[in-house]
Amino acid sequence: MQTATSMMPRKIVVSGCSSGIGLAICQQLLAAGHQVIGISRDPGRGGINHDEFIPWELDLANLALLPDQLGQLVKAHPDVDGVVANAGRGQFGGLEEFSYAQIDQLLDLNLRSQIYLVRALLPALRQRAHSDLIFMGSEAALAGGRRGAVYSASKAALRGFAQALREECSRSGLRVSLINPGMVRTPFFDQLDFAPGDEPSHAITADTVADTVRMVLDAASEVVFDEINLSPLKKVIKKNN
Ligand SMILES: NC(=O)c1ccc[n+]([C@@H]2O[C@H](COP(=O)([O-])OP(=O)(O)OC[C@H]3O[C@@H](n4cnc5c(N)ncnc54)[C@H](OP(=O)(O)O)[C@@H]3O)[C@@H](O)[C@H]2O)c1
Repeated sequence: MQTATSMMPRKIVVSGCSSGIGLAICQQLLAAGHQVIGISRDPGRGGINHDEFIPWELDLANLALLPDQLGQLVKAHPDVDGVVANAGRGQFGGLEEFSYAQIDQLLDLNLRSQIYLVRALLPALRQRAHSDLIFMGSEAALAGGRRGAVYSASKAALRGFAQALREECSRSGLRVSLINPGMVRTPFFDQLDFAPGDEPSHAITADTVADTVRMVLDAASEVVFDEINLSPLKKVIKKNN
């Protein structure tokens, strides 16, 4: 007999809760009756007003402070049974356009902070009979693209991390999943010189990615979605002014 996990209220950490995909995930999880600990530098920015929303201010890119800060999170919430590691940003350009500091900053947020977050929460997750760890990868994790060397490196490495962790945890009740979206219409593109085209078919919505996260969380506990790739129907990119 399959065990459905969908009806149980859960306590789920979502990083990058203040905008775009993470905000949509938080809203859907709260609407479904879960408790959400939302991490970002400004977790109130997304305007979530819900009794079960616990804002947790954290700069994930500040690695030096992160072990202590994550320790405080685990101490306050030892009963977390789900993590959506979603925070991240895009920076694109030829490699020579990146300073060494910019390379470090992008890898620190998109890769190293994810590893730190999991390192801190893994013992608690493994103690649970059923728990979930979901990473937000990217199509850039699957294939390197022009002007995306550092971003692709961060997401491809995250994919390797998720795959290895899935093996490491395969005898426990912790399910590890990776979602790789193509272009999603979010503020991710606000600081970039390109964006998806204007038609609905040119980008995925943040709600569609959130739907996918809920599908992964709600799957029968015996089933793991190892990896899900999502693409807009049409790949159309426009220049941002
Ligand atoms: N949009 C796309 O086309 C697309 C496609 C594939 C994958 N992704 C991935 O999806 C994830 C979410 O992107 P999005 O499109 O939702 O972008 P977004 O709208 O710009 O949201 C990014 C989120 O990350 C948080 N964040 C950024 N820097 C942070 C830091 N130093 N510490 C803590 N939180 C930080 C932001 O919160 P604060 O600013 O409040 O800190 C924000 O909540 C990223 O990992 C991205 O790589 C996006």
